[in-house]
Amino acid sequence: MTASLLRLYPPPTEAVALEGLYLNAPLVPSDLQARLFVYANFVMSLDGRIAIAQPPGRQVVPSTTANPHDWRLFQELAGHADVLVSSGRYLRDWAAGQAQDSLPVGSASAFADIHRWRRRQGKAGQPDVVFLSEDLDFPAPRRLLQEGRTVRIFTGDAPPRERFAALTAEGLIVERFAGNGRIDGKEIVARLTALGYRRAYCVAGPQVLHTLVSAGCLNTLFLTTVHRLLGGEGFATIMEGALLGAPADYRLRSLYYDTHTPDGVGQMLARYDRH
Ligand SMILES: NC(=O)c1ccc[n+]([C@@H]2O[C@H](COP(=O)([O-])OP(=O)(O)OC[C@H]3O[C@@H](n4cnc5c(N)ncnc54)[C@H](OP(=O)(O)O)[C@@H]3O)[C@@H](O)[C@H]2O)c1
Repeated sequence: MTASLLRLYPPPTEAVALEGLYLNAPLVPSDLQARLFVYANFVMSLDGRIAIAQPPGRQVVPSTTANPHDWRLFQELAGHADVLVSSGRYLRDWAAGQAQDSLPVGSASAFADIHRWRRRQGKAGQPDVVFLSEDLDFPAPRRLLQEGRTVRIFTGDAPPRERFAALTAEGLIVERFAGNGRIDGKEIVARLTALGYRRAYCVAGPQVLHTLVSAGCLNTLFLTTVHRLLGGEGFATIMEGALLGAPADYRLRSLYYDTHTPDGVGQMLARYDRH
């Protein structure tokens, strides 16, 4: 894939290559190097859709916004990660054979440079994975375990002991957090830090993003906006949960214009850093 983009911000405006855009750019500002850095990435339509309904009762990333250019950058961001943060919903989709990906970095030859880059950085072949779940209502992701990945589940006090024991017996590391419901973002970040992680990539959806943002824990948001309107009712946008007590402010760090994705529509690739 040899696509070129137009850098709109910061100046000067100039053509740049897609490949390496997020892999080679510094992810973490110099003053934050020593701490856990948390980042997320979404692709959405002009009307803010990140997922649409797919019966029975599922939501999926629409094929009208998913595209190879954004996917390449998704993989590059995974290249930086020590740990991916995903959700119980992902594991239910995985068990049903309907997960969008196999939790990167992808094995396709197009991503071989990302694997080489990880090796040069002294990173593990693949990032570890943490799944957040209130209910533990999914089977153990055996393939991830067979691949030798370290897989943790963070949950609260609500799930029954038997569920906890069954997943632990399969080789998962299940960690309970205080409280019956949702885990607080600050506790998640404190635990990831204690485990020694420095780069956590949130690949889950709107509720996990809300968990992180409402706790003041999201450093950077990468947002791809595909120049299409989808319409529809009640579909997910990037963040869902209670109105924040105060807005979380981010400043634009970079903006690229991808004039045409392979299916001929434009998109903006933005990076926002927390104030
Ligand atoms: N377009 C994009 O870029 C993009 C990116 C990501 C996701 N998506 C789409 O968005 C849709 C929703 O994705 P998602 O379900 O992963 O998103 P989510 O809304 O972030 O995750 C929901 C699930 O995560 C668990 N969870 C969330 N916050 C938690 C907390 N604080 N403590 C404990 N558990 C917590 C719960 O799992 P349990 O139900 O197991 O308790 C909850 O049901 C999917 O269709 C996905 O494909 C789109």
